[in-house]
Order: sequence, then structure tokens, then C-alpha cells
Amino acid sequence: MTANVKIAPSILSADFSRLGEEVKAVDEAGADWIHIDVMDGHFVPNLTFGPPVIKCIRPWTEKLFDVHLMIDPAQPYLEDYAKAGADQIVVHAEADKHLDRSIQVIKGLGKKAGVSLNPHTPESVLEYVIDQLDLILVMSVNPGFGGQSFIPSALDKIKRIKDMVGDRDIEIQVDGGVNKDTAKSVVDAGATCLVAGSAVFKGDDYVATINAIKDAYS
Ligand code: DX5
Ligand code: ZN
Repeated sequence: MTANVKIAPSILSADFSRLGEEVKAVDEAGADWIHIDVMDGHFVPNLTFGPPVIKCIRPWTEKLFDVHLMIDPAQPYLEDYAKAGADQIVVHAEADKHLDRSIQVIKGLGKKAGVSLNPHTPESVLEYVIDQLDLILVMSVNPGFGGQSFIPSALDKIKRIKDMVGDRDIEIQVDGGVNKDTAKSVVDAGATCLVAGSAVFKGDDYVATINAIKDAYS
């Protein structure tokens, strides 16, 4: 089971002046997916980048582009992210009055669809959309910044979501404060994909860091 746990480095903590090379480096270091944090300075108190930057880094890897949209609204821009090279588009339940429609739009664009929950958001919001999902993202920090500490209540939420998911083919992703010290507890709780930003990019040796995270739960 743990052999299938995916590592998705978040390029939020990468060197933005060399983003393409950074994406290639984590690809070669063993990343399963590339996690791309899009922030709008409105839904979250930080700004990052949008579709043109994603389009520029697309040629640097063939790994899945996992696009985490921390933007409100997301729905008007879903097609732009799909065209820029996203393989999977994750929207926040809190930023969407019409979550079911957004999921349908993402699927209609031929992309995988995910829903993300802030630390305070109960998993019950997933109840009527869960059958359409490819991924559920459990935020284990308040979104907006890399390098924050893991919020322990996320563990209980992961366990509850694992029960909700049952035998459905849905990834349970955890994002925020994941490193070699917290990885085992999130995998034990039921996570199948770990996002790691600062833990990977703030180290000098991406191979060693990714391996250390994998070793922590294997
Ligand atoms: C936070 C982002 C995360 C962030 C995680 O809003 O969604 O993906 O990059 O960073 P770390 O791993 O440093 O907590
Ligand atoms: Zn993220």
C-alpha cells in the first residue's frame, strides 16, 4: 500500500528564476507529480502565477501537473489552466458556490478533478460530489505560504475521508508541513499523495530529501 504513495513536490518553494530547471530536477529526483500552487491574493493572502507560467514549464517534464487553485472564483479560469497544461485541477470547496458545476467543467475538459478543504472545513461538504472526484486534498496548513507547521487535526480528517472514500479510486492528498518527520503519520492515517514544498526545495539534494520522506513511511 505505502509503495503506491505519491510524492508531489510543490514548486511554490522552488527558485522562480529557474522554474523549468527546478521542475526537471525534481522530476529526475523521483517526484511522482508536480504540485503547482496558484494563488490570487484574494482567496489567500499571497500571489503566485497563472496559466502563462504553467505553459512555460510544461515542456520540462512529462509528469502529471497537479494544479492547486487557491483562487476565487476558479470556474471562469478552468479552461485556461487546462489549456496551459494542467492534468489535474483542484478547486477549493470554500471558494466555490457551485462546486458540482466546477467538477463537471474540469471533467468536461478531459482533466482529473480534485476538491481541497481548508483546515476548518468539514469533510461533509464532499458527500454529494465524492463520486465524481479523482482526488481530495486535505490542507494541513492554512493555504497561502510554504514553510508552515503541520496542523495535527488534519490526521483525524484524513482518517474520516479514508472511510468516506471506501473502495472508490480517489487519491487522498495532504498539503502543508509534510516532511520526513510528519510523513509517516499522514500515510498511516490514509494519505496516498504527499505534497512537500519547503522540505524538498529548501534542501540541497532533492534525491536525498525525496528518499528520506519515502523512507519515513515505507
Ligand atoms: C500552501 C500550498 C502548499 C505549500 C506547501 O498554501 O498549498 O502546496 O507549497 O508548502 P510546505 O510543504 O512548505 O508546507
Ligand atoms: Zn498546494
